[in-house]
Amino acid sequence: MKITLSVIKADVGGYPGHSGMHPELMEVARRELGKAKKEGKIIDFSVLHCGDDLELIMTHSGFIDDPQIHKLAWDTFVAGTAVAKKLKLYGAGQDLLKDTFSGNVKGMGPGSAEVCFEERKSEPVLIFMADKTEPGAWNLPLYKMFADPFNTAGLVIDAACHKGYTFEVQDVREHKKVRFTCPAESYDMLALIGQVGRYVIKSVVRNSDGEIAAVTSTDRLNLLAGRYVGKDDPVMIIRAQSGFPAVGEILEPFAFPHLVAGWMRGSHHGPLMPVGFEQATPSRFDGPPRVMCAAFQLNNGLLEGPTDMLKDVSFDEARHEANVVANYMRRHGPFEPHRLGADDMEYTTLPEVLEKLKGRFEKL
Ligand code: 13P
Ligand code: 13P
Ligand code: MG
Ligand code: MG
Repeated sequence: MKITLSVIKADVGGYPGHSGMHPELMEVARRELGKAKKEGKIIDFSVLHCGDDLELIMTHSGFIDDPQIHKLAWDTFVAGTAVAKKLKLYGAGQDLLKDTFSGNVKGMGPGSAEVCFEERKSEPVLIFMADKTEPGAWNLPLYKMFADPFNTAGLVIDAACHKGYTFEVQDVREHKKVRFTCPAESYDMLALIGQVGRYVIKSVVRNSDGEIAAVTSTDRLNLLAGRYVGKDDPVMIIRAQSGFPAVGEILEPFAFPHLVAGWMRGSHHGPLMPVGFEQATPSRFDGPPRVMCAAFQLNNGLLEGPTDMLKDVSFDEARHEANVVANYMRRHGPFEPHRLGADDMEYTTLPEVLEKLKGRFEKL
C-alpha cells in the first residue's frame, strides 16, 4: 500500500511570546483534521507542538505536494490564526506570508516535509520537530545517522545498510541542488554541509535500491519574505529499521547538543537541547533551541503512536550538557560567536548605526 506522510508546520501565534502553544490552537487543529479524516481526505493525523510551532502530521493516499492536503494544512493554520487573534496571542499568523492560498504551502511561509512510499511489513517512522533553529540544524545529525559508522553500527555490520546512502543537498541561497553518494563522496559533501546556513540536506535515499530514507523541510522563511518574520523552525521524517538505521541509531546524534543558529530573535547560536513533548517550551532567553521526536508505527496508513522518544532518561545528560553550554554561550552577551555573524542575524541595527556614524569615521 502506497502511503504519503506529510508533516506541515507553522507558527500562527505563540503563548506566551514565542515560548509555547495555547491549548485552543491545538483543539482547532484537531477539529479541522478530524473533519478531514471523517470526510476521507486523510487516513490519519496527529497534532503536536514544538514551542510555538503547530505541527500537523498527516497520512493520506494522495501524493507529495498534493494541493488538497496543502490546502487542508493552510486552512487549518488560517483557522488557528483566527483563534490566535481572538486570544491576542503573540505574533498571530506569524508564518502565513500570503493572504490567499495558491495550491501549495511552499513559498507561503509554513514548512513541510513529505515522503511517499510503499508501507513495509512493519514501518517505524520518526518525526523530528525543532524550535528556535533552522533547517541546517539537521545536517550534522543526518550525516551521523546515514554516513558515520561511529554513530550507526549498521553501516558496518548490517548488509542492508552497508552500501551507504545518497544525500540531496540544496543551496538555499542560490536555489540549486546536488547529490552526493556516500561514503565515497562524503568529504566533498562535508565541505558543503558544514556551512549550515546555506547548504541543507533535503533528503536521503538508500544506495542499494533508491528507497527514500529521510526528508527534511528546507523552507527558509526569512529568505522568502525578504525580512525577519520568525525563524524557519524545521521538521524532518526518518524511516527506521530493516535496511535503514535502527531507531536507536537515528536518535543517537541527539545525545550531542550541537550548536545551532536561531536562539533569541533568530540571531544567536545555542545548543540544540533534546526534550520530551512537555519540555518543548523554550523559555530561557527564548531557548535554548529544542528538538523533540515523535515516533509512530504505520498500520495501513494509521499512525500508531506517538511515542515521545527524546523524553527518555538516557538524554538527561545531553540536557544537562546543553544547559552547561547554554550558560557558557550566554556569557558572551552580544559578542560573536554567541551572536550570529552580521549577514545571518535576523534582527540588526547595524545599517542604522553605521549610517549615524558615517561622518564620524576618520582615516587610520
Ligand atoms: P533490524 O535489522 O530489524 O533493522 O534491527 C536492528 C536493530 O534494531 C538492532 O538494534
Ligand atoms: P520563532 O521563530 O519560534 O517564532 O521565534 C522567534 C524568536 O526568535 C524569539 O526570540
Ligand atoms: Mg513565534
Ligand atoms: Mg518557533
